[in-house]
Amino acid sequence: MKPAKRLQNLPPYLFAELDRAKKKLRDEGADIIDLSIGDPDMEPPAQLKQYLADALNTPEIHRYPSYAGCPEFRKAVSDWMSKRHDANVDPDGEVLGLIGAKEGIVHFVMATINEGDMVVTPSPGYPPYIHATILAGGKTHEFPLTPDTDFQPDFDAVPADVWKKAKILFLNYPNNPTSATATRETFEKAIELARKYDFIVVNDAAYIDVASPDDLPLSILAVPGAKDVAIEFHSLSKTFNICGWRIGWCAGNKDIVGLVGRFKESVDSGAFTAIQHACAKGMATLEDHIVGMQGIYMTRREAITKQLSLMGLQVLRSNAGFYVWAKLPSGKSTDFCTNLLEKAHVAATPGLGFGKHGEGYVRFSLTASTERIGEAIERMAKL
Ligand code: MLT
Repeated sequence: MKPAKRLQNLPPYLFAELDRAKKKLRDEGADIIDLSIGDPDMEPPAQLKQYLADALNTPEIHRYPSYAGCPEFRKAVSDWMSKRHDANVDPDGEVLGLIGAKEGIVHFVMATINEGDMVVTPSPGYPPYIHATILAGGKTHEFPLTPDTDFQPDFDAVPADVWKKAKILFLNYPNNPTSATATRETFEKAIELARKYDFIVVNDAAYIDVASPDDLPLSILAVPGAKDVAIEFHSLSKTFNICGWRIGWCAGNKDIVGLVGRFKESVDSGAFTAIQHACAKGMATLEDHIVGMQGIYMTRREAITKQLSLMGLQVLRSNAGFYVWAKLPSGKSTDFCTNLLEKAHVAATPGLGFGKHGEGYVRFSLTASTERIGEAIERMAKL
């Protein structure tokens, strides 16, 4: 069967490729320490599982969900955004429930660009920005995120011609893969450019709540004027260790949120209502879990950062997210990761997988226990 052209044009999906490589070794009996995909090893809070169990017995909960997200969930999102992120979004129209942020990002691109339209996107960057653009027939312009600009975009380096053709600017803060957080100036400048050139700014904020409550990264929706031109994607996957539940939202400009909703009405039927109910309660009551989780990631981060530095890798310091972005002393990132996986049975993600400006770097995910991370470091040091 010949695949459709849009599928033929898609590069392999990074994490599916890595899964195949890990599976092959596991099938041969290898004990793989997986620091590649950002899939939390910790359990969801027990209380959240109880909320879900309770919700399962609610009358009518197993019927089709609401397309836009149930009122309880959208209200909880609106409260969460104002309480935690200083952002005011109307639960009716400015918030849309999603089956995870990844789904929403792809559908958002499908809903807003035409063939040949330009999408400006970070490199290194989360692969779905480019995959979605290919699926929608658009073109991408990748801007580099490097230590020279503290992993902030150098907007002035993007040619005016690109801005003129741009329909979407993707930002992703706290950033995957680098864990850098945005400065206020980055968001302000993006909003100003979007007004000038008439494009949509998107901040993918999937990691914004994996951070200390005393030092929460900035949401673009907290910046004045953002709602004129911007939307933000959020996810509970990492906040509550529920990647498999598939639940997130986008919020911000009503017209843009509405377009994503319209697209989704034709392709899916919304997130399971029991999950929405459980998460709505969780968002109102589980602050302690978030504080504890962040402490654990910080301990893991400190341990691995120290050891990687001793091994000669330069590491970006950050208090947000759960990725460690390390610069290799030399060589290609794919060679480094293949060697590490095959010889030490430690899985990490090659920087090149996030785009050409990721070459020379490797990403370690802090989603294994401190003991397993310690063992991974020992294996690496031996290698
Ligand atoms: C990652 O490892 O970059 C993420 O877990 C992938 C995802 O969130 O889809």
